[in-house]
Amino acid sequence: MCGIVGYIGPKDTLPILIEGLKRLEYRGYDSAGIALSINGEILVRKKAGKVADLVADLKKSNELPHAHLGMGHTRWATHGEPNDINAHPHVDCQGEIAVIHNGIIENYLAIKTRLKQRGHVFQSETDTEILAHLIEEIYKTKKDLFAAVRLALREVRGTYGLVVLSSHEPDKLIAARMGSPLILGLGDGEGFVAADAAAIIAHTRQVVYLNDGEVAEVTARGFETKTIYDVSIDKAIEEITFDLSQIERGGYEHFMMKEIHEQPETIRNAMRGRLLVEEGNVRLGGLDHVRDKLLGARRVIIIGCGTSWHAGLVGEYMLEHIAKVPTEVEYASEFRYRSPVITNNDVVFLISQSGETADTLAALREAKAKGATVLGIVNVVGSSIARESQGGVYVHAGPEIGVASTKAFTSQLTTLALITLMIAREKGMKKEEAVVLTRELDAIPGKVSQIFTNVEPIRALAREFRDSKNFLFLGRGANFPVALEGALKLKEISYIHAEGYPAAEMKHGPIALIDEKMPVVFVVPKDSIYEKVISNIQEVRARKGRIIAIANEDDHEINSMADYVIRVPRTYGFFGPILNVIPLQLLAYYMAVERGCNVDQPRNLAKSVTVE
Ligand code: AGP
Repeated sequence: MCGIVGYIGPKDTLPILIEGLKRLEYRGYDSAGIALSINGEILVRKKAGKVADLVADLKKSNELPHAHLGMGHTRWATHGEPNDINAHPHVDCQGEIAVIHNGIIENYLAIKTRLKQRGHVFQSETDTEILAHLIEEIYKTKKDLFAAVRLALREVRGTYGLVVLSSHEPDKLIAARMGSPLILGLGDGEGFVAADAAAIIAHTRQVVYLNDGEVAEVTARGFETKTIYDVSIDKAIEEITFDLSQIERGGYEHFMMKEIHEQPETIRNAMRGRLLVEEGNVRLGGLDHVRDKLLGARRVIIIGCGTSWHAGLVGEYMLEHIAKVPTEVEYASEFRYRSPVITNNDVVFLISQSGETADTLAALREAKAKGATVLGIVNVVGSSIARESQGGVYVHAGPEIGVASTKAFTSQLTTLALITLMIAREKGMKKEEAVVLTRELDAIPGKVSQIFTNVEPIRALAREFRDSKNFLFLGRGANFPVALEGALKLKEISYIHAEGYPAAEMKHGPIALIDEKMPVVFVVPKDSIYEKVISNIQEVRARKGRIIAIANEDDHEINSMADYVIRVPRTYGFFGPILNVIPLQLLAYYMAVERGCNVDQPRNLAKSVTVE
């Protein structure tokens, strides 16, 4: 969601802020702004639209001011429409204190009313603006920005990752976190603040992750951290694990396409050092210390949102079929508010690419408070979910910039397959049986590469169906979640209405939609329920629906039943989703391109959803 970048140091600040904001664009936003500290004054410029619009405005007015302290923000609107006034930074009455903020201040109306009564004048409809005025009010008597921010934050309820600067103390940035991620970056005689590492990786790899309730004073010389209640905290300095090339497009037109093509490598990375092919076994260090809990669990609950939830659904099929573990899958947003009955015999896996999704993090805390063992399946190293979990497995997909999740999904599936095999072996699966599966898994990256050798039929489909208003995606068993994922990908980036359904469920309602204009995508690998799906295909055919089949290379029967066939290599049934989803990712991508949509930054979406 909102992007934050701040800088203090000897370099020219504006280019650092603009570059940082551009690297955060992938998070999703609708306006952008900067504040610079210049000769004892704060210059604020902000604009609805893209960072490029802000830069164009600055250039038009011949304003590219030099400064050594500043901050930039990209806003994803919550309170107040996305316009110039509601864009961040927000300032106090005198324009001497500026604030950028990610999150929601829940009690902002009460504070606003009180401050208005004390004569404060507000410019915007945002919740954020009250922070600037509240700090102003406290600063009048405290005369200490670091302390004033801490005192102000004791009065607010809600979530924030925020940065404050003031013309009164032009040698520092104050940063604070509650629920919205924020990191400090440490350079040589310079300091950074950022919502995520992508904004500052070009300048430093040394970072400090703030925890909830912590406030930091960042100067060019270093930083100091306290809780909002004034307790000093020693923070560890950590090293960012990825490099700049991983967050650049590397010759591809869009990040999404780059990330789709990275999958042979990212799937391999998820297995590296973990999959012991000829031993028919799996080693997962992050689960060693919870081995007994995992093996003795009454049930496993997998929790996530969106694509991560879809991965969880596939995981349920794997865990129940292969490892015989009773498994449930829950939407994080539903789990947290439905008083779930959880005991300390439950193991809860939280799946999240970003590791920052607010609902998933809240579900983690709920499950932990109720005594469950909480384990993360997370991509972003050092993220909140990773840090608050009691153990877990990183999926190692590398930074995912495209808003539509692709490589993280297949890495999540691969990781779930590894966890399943590890449990199955611990529970007595024979080595010979397991080796068949570990070899299948090991062969998956090569089979993904094979899919990329023939993408033309998928591109042709996109040309053919670019004007369709609706799409139906159907699959059964472990491929039902693949149908859900195909539909989600398509609607996210091409804005075509799409539904995913279990193929047999179609006749209980969606069949009413089928006519000669309705494209229906069937995920129909040659597995144990192939014949059943074929019957569902016939039902659609009988109603003249246009059938697109995702089928195995050696399936010749399908030719006479489908209007279009996209081929994928065959694999073990429960690993099939890792391959079968790839043509659907490509279909969504080509459809979006055909329709002229913004593939990497689809409207209204945020890459990591850090508000409820
Ligand atoms: C995927 O394409 C979506 N952008 C979205 O559904 C995403 O998977 C969801 O918001 C969960 O995010 P997370 O994996 O970072 O927790």
